[in-house]
Amino acid sequence: MRIRQHVNPLAPYFQEFHGVVPAMPAGAEVELEIGCADAQFLFERAALDPTAIYVGCEIREDLVGLVNRRARRTGVPVHAVFCQAQLHLDAIFEPGRVARVFVNFPDPWFKKKHHERRMIDDVLATGIARAARPGAEIFVQSDVWAIALDAMSVFESDGRFVNAAGEWTFWRGGNPYGVRSWREQNAEETGLPVWRIMYRRAA
Ligand SMILES: C[S@@+](CC[C@H](N)C(=O)[O-])C[C@H]1O[C@@H](n2cnc3c(N)ncnc32)[C@H](O)[C@@H]1O
Repeated sequence: MRIRQHVNPLAPYFQEFHGVVPAMPAGAEVELEIGCADAQFLFERAALDPTAIYVGCEIREDLVGLVNRRARRTGVPVHAVFCQAQLHLDAIFEPGRVARVFVNFPDPWFKKKHHERRMIDDVLATGIARAARPGAEIFVQSDVWAIALDAMSVFESDGRFVNAAGEWTFWRGGNPYGVRSWREQNAEETGLPVWRIMYRRAA
């Protein structure tokens, strides 16, 4: 299947929510990856602990179908939701429902002229702050230093989040989740540096 490489998140079609919200039974922990693509990270998380629910937000509709077909075929609790994550987290999650939020290698574009397309901004931070429960982990990784730094400045200047590594400090503990996203695996195998930040949702 031919998958589109990029879509423009500012396009009018993405302003409205067209996704399907998965069931999230009370008592099951919920983990969220924003921009999940093929959801390798979530499938591997589900293999480690199949009792939780793994939700991937993704703006490329073809990938959403691909992930959901694989999940249903293999019977794992992974659900991709077609959405523009900056706008639609409220439509997907009850407040305080999410235990962990992952943003792995968020932006395929990092040119200056595409700055306004960046995924992690104050609007996304507000969606995350509402969806995340107190103490929830917010973990961001990128192989582009400017993107990681931009993301840090968004969370650092927002009192709803606390930097687990100390103010204005990158997370140096590696990826503590025991699984890797496709981009992360690729970056590590090709020797690219990976910049990480870890925040907690303040109470
Ligand atoms: C560079 S890829 C990384 C994919 C995966 N997280 C990984 O690490 O392998 C970024 C993904 O985020 C998706 N994306 C970008 N902006 C988005 C948005 N506003 N809402 C939802 N998904 C978005 C893209 O379609 C793409 O699949």
